[in-house]
Amino acid sequence: MSNKMWGGRFSTGPDAVMEEINVSIDVDRHLYAQDIAASKAHAAMLAGQGIIAAEDADAIARGLDTILAEIEAGTFTFKRALEDIHMNVEGRLAEMIGAAAGRLHTARSRNDQVATDFRLWVRDSIDAIDAALGDYQRALAERALEHADTVMPGFTHLQTAQPVTFGHHLMAYVEMAARDRGRFADARTRLNESPLGAAALAGTSFPLDRERTARALGFDRPMANSLDAVSDRDFVLETLAAASIASVHLSRFAEEIVIWTSPLVGLIRLSDRFTTGSSIMPQKRNPDAAELVRAKTGRIIGALNALLIVMKGLPLAYQKDMQEDKQGTIEALGALALALAAMTGMVRDLVPDAARMKKAAGEGYATATDLADWLVRELKMPFREAHHVTGRIVARASEAGVPLHRLALAAMREIEPRITEAVFDVLSVQSSVKSRTSFGGTAPKNVRAQARAWLRRLDKDRKAT
Ligand code: ARG
Repeated sequence: MSNKMWGGRFSTGPDAVMEEINVSIDVDRHLYAQDIAASKAHAAMLAGQGIIAAEDADAIARGLDTILAEIEAGTFTFKRALEDIHMNVEGRLAEMIGAAAGRLHTARSRNDQVATDFRLWVRDSIDAIDAALGDYQRALAERALEHADTVMPGFTHLQTAQPVTFGHHLMAYVEMAARDRGRFADARTRLNESPLGAAALAGTSFPLDRERTARALGFDRPMANSLDAVSDRDFVLETLAAASIASVHLSRFAEEIVIWTSPLVGLIRLSDRFTTGSSIMPQKRNPDAAELVRAKTGRIIGALNALLIVMKGLPLAYQKDMQEDKQGTIEALGALALALAAMTGMVRDLVPDAARMKKAAGEGYATATDLADWLVRELKMPFREAHHVTGRIVARASEAGVPLHRLALAAMREIEPRITEAVFDVLSVQSSVKSRTSFGGTAPKNVRAQARAWLRRLDKDRKAT
């Protein structure tokens, strides 16, 4: 049988392989709600402009509502022969209301239709991810407030560097998530213009009201160039770029969770709710959720790469290559949503071993910088010289096998005679973090203020939406 949408010119149906490579319904069925919303807006506009009769527009709208209900109830039969979501919906509409269904596609093409549907779908996903990022930030800020005083080792090169607070470490991810939200919001702003009415590529001779359909679908305005409207997928690329960066942030934290839960490190513990056991080694408690968050990053970045490559050689306007924009995107944004939910869950679940953290923070001479700073402040020593003197004191402590705050004053004085008893005030990890009061520093009072400010801001955002 030739295709009923374009059968006029065709006498036989497609080869089985042709159908198989062409079909997209398994993927674009995800866009059913957006497709139906856009069709309803289009039909109402056509009637408003006197392009189709009001009765036809009403029948179309009622039919589309029924189709939406059928899809949501799971009673709709998706047909592969009808290729994609657009033709499946229109095909069912024709079964239901007959000839009037054929008027819906007036002054429209699947090219502007799919561009519109996918913009709406991506916009909905951005909104869902933004809310999930807000929940993640809230979980982090709450735990940060709880652990504003919990001292842990801060690392550079994964070597103990200086003591920080666990709350400060968590708040670093709140800031990253804030920039992630900013990137999604930027993408959303540029995305939010309507391609509907661009038709196949050149616009149409019918007197459309593109402002009206744009408004009805929550877009800020219609896109200004019909070729651009059907040809670009930069809104997907920007969203996937934002998703890639967000997932890299999640992956770095996931990596820390994997390291910190290792018995070799033992800084935090996850409960049974966010770990799995081993089928052979009864002692194991594996941080699978964190590992999978780390792994999902590969797929999300992969989706961005794949679409960049699909787009790079395409001349204007619509090319069927662009049908490949959806599968990776839908999977990637789903993976990001899941990764965010898992990270939020782990943030709420994890329990730091405060005693182990404090001990580890004191190992590796983490307060050496505090000693050098003391020499600069109290003895007016140039920092470079203070660095050298401190290095010799650290070497002495290391020979004696003791941490800095246990090294005898006499031993320090052999290296720098002007050092006094007061130096011990800065050598403990607790006093070290307390002293880091510079803006953005790790001092508990800074962390508390930052966490409280974020929680207030997140509350306000939530009330505003
Ligand atoms: N399924 C197609 C896609 O996702 C819809 C647009 C088809 N347009 C066309 N001229 N064949 O890209």
